[in-house]
Amino acid sequence: MIDDIRSACDEALAAVASAHLDVVDQLHAELLGKRSHLSGMKAKLGSLDAEERRVAGSALNQAMASVSAAIDERRAQAQRAALEARIDAERLDLTEAPPVGRRGHLHLVTQAWEQLEDVFVGLGFTVAEGPEVETDWYNFEALNMGEGHPARGEFDTLFVGRSDNELPGESGILLRTHTSPVQIRAMLAQEPPIHIVAPGRVFRRDTPDATHMPVFHQIEGLVVDRDITMADLAGTIEAFTRAFFGEEFTSRLRPSYFPFTEPSAEFDVRRPDGSWLELGGCGMVHPEVLRAGGLDPEQWSGFAFGFGIDRMAVMRHGVSDIRDMYVNDIRFIEQF
Ligand code: DAH
Repeated sequence: MIDDIRSACDEALAAVASAHLDVVDQLHAELLGKRSHLSGMKAKLGSLDAEERRVAGSALNQAMASVSAAIDERRAQAQRAALEARIDAERLDLTEAPPVGRRGHLHLVTQAWEQLEDVFVGLGFTVAEGPEVETDWYNFEALNMGEGHPARGEFDTLFVGRSDNELPGESGILLRTHTSPVQIRAMLAQEPPIHIVAPGRVFRRDTPDATHMPVFHQIEGLVVDRDITMADLAGTIEAFTRAFFGEEFTSRLRPSYFPFTEPSAEFDVRRPDGSWLELGGCGMVHPEVLRAGGLDPEQWSGFAFGFGIDRMAVMRHGVSDIRDMYVNDIRFIEQF
């Protein structure tokens, strides 16, 4: 009997292995169901004596269990095969067709933006972001330009009202006039040491002309740590100048005034021909600004800088009218 069971089991396993995947579901009934060979043998167990029945019964149970497991495995195989077939059938060829005619590229302002990020990341900065819609507090108050500060007048601010009958400015919500509010957000978000640059879009209520746009781009820098000095600022500006423009360029700082830095400076870049180019503002972070950022000015010091990205692109490419960059005339755009 044991031999019969063994050969019936082998036969059943062979049937499973060679069964076509479509008929897997019928295998169970066929090989283990009432009419199956193995079930038939089970019925015969009754005619055996006790010891034989125990041995044969256990062999039969094992045989049926292994056939059942083989069927399950075959079913899983069938399901995998069906899935693969479906994936194959539904596959879409999304390969890009080779460009016909013109090929697109990044806008020249985007190129300048990305190159600036690359250079600053190379100098150890990380890139931070802030919202374009800001509050009066971040854009002015925390930057040492409280209500009534004369410097506010230099920023022709676009205000966002909460309701139609609200006067401009009443809601305290505005389109950021510079990227400097990101300084405050960075200080509030992370412990020093801080080394960030924050490129982004800024807005001013300006009529477009050859040198002004109401929407433009700036990049802000902020470093806060212990014992940061003006020498660190000058060294960073110089390292940036050489990395971005080339080794034949150098930089200088000129005394200036900004409410959020003390002392403040303007920085210029010297071209190989000896001419100087005004680039942006910078200085040592004002103690009030550190305080607004939640830092103790007795313990921490820092420097900041900010300059226009669009101006940078204009200077690099000798564009005479800044508006040309935004009209998006393809004949202009594709030159860069
Ligand atoms: N936020 C200034 C502007 O828009 C530029 C600026 C000047 C940024 C000095 C700075 C700075 O971080 O230190 O005119």
